[in-house]
Amino acid sequence: MKTLVTGSPAEAAELIKKGGIVAFPTETVYGLGANVFDADAVAKIFAAKLRPADNPLIAHVANLAQIAELTVEIPQIAQKLIDQFFPGPLTVVLKRSDAVPPIATAGLDTIGVRMPRHTLAREFLAACGTPVVAPSANISGRPSPTTWQAVIEDLDGRIDCILQGEATEIGLESTVVDCSAQPPVLLRQGSVSIEELRRAAPEMAVYQGSHGDAVRSPGLKHKHYSPRAEIRLVDPWAAISGSDLENTAYIGLTLRESEFAKVRICSSAEEYSHELFEFFRECDRLKIAAIYCERIAETGIGAALMDRLRRAAER
Ligand code: TXA
Ligand code: MG
Repeated sequence: MKTLVTGSPAEAAELIKKGGIVAFPTETVYGLGANVFDADAVAKIFAAKLRPADNPLIAHVANLAQIAELTVEIPQIAQKLIDQFFPGPLTVVLKRSDAVPPIATAGLDTIGVRMPRHTLAREFLAACGTPVVAPSANISGRPSPTTWQAVIEDLDGRIDCILQGEATEIGLESTVVDCSAQPPVLLRQGSVSIEELRRAAPEMAVYQGSHGDAVRSPGLKHKHYSPRAEIRLVDPWAAISGSDLENTAYIGLTLRESEFAKVRICSSAEEYSHELFEFFRECDRLKIAAIYCERIAETGIGAALMDRLRRAAER
């Protein structure tokens, strides 16, 4: 398959309407989209990404009316989160309508819904005229793509089209909150923080399931965000020495004076989040053996960043 690279949201949307799969930018990471109501097109996403069939997809909507096409009810608390955080980097899990083919939600009776705020994504979704399911546009298990070039790296020749945009603004995937039962549960940390969520919904719980627990959010049990290099988490002022640093890299907030092959010092947790996945990919291109990642405080987006780092460090 030849993968078309285009800057035109209308051209990319035409391919969605024809049953194709199209990568597109959002404010979090690039997604790989298909018409949610076209089961054959949705199946192509799983094939292209080598995604396990038990991992449900998030439906992306252009407007609030499309949420009603996908769901049977919107509980009060979900409505509050939608009012406050849509459009933006928040996914709300709701009971799904029968119109949604089971393959899109891995057989679950719920569906994750999100309305991106990214301008090009919104133009694309509006032109599609249908909700678009989209996981991150990477080969399963790899770091999510934050540039269109990273999408090419993983999926060139495997998808119909890439809608070309800038590097994504946030760099980590959306916050996921399950609102299908009471109390709502934070399933995946993202740039909408638990502090912000609790201001809107004080009863918000945090998912405590282990990796083996498939029930609440199947995606959480799968391996994620991993470069080929080994990930080593380090405290800000811990010494890194002894071993051969020649083929290792470092990313964090604190300046280091060691001889790493590649170093990225970020000025904030936001910048660290923005840079992380592309840094992982760059280290893989350079065949770096190990990447030291500085631990940071788990407030605001720091909680999401630490979640991704811990998962990447799991072997
Ligand atoms: O920022 C994002 O969310 C990006 C962009 C493209 O929107 N998408 C993304 O999708 O990260 P994906 O498929 O890589 O991650 C979706 C996560 C998975 O952990 C999945 O298990 C969970 O959301 N999820 C999706 N639908 C769910 C549902 N019905 N119930 C529980 N968890 C769900
Ligand atoms: Mg993903």
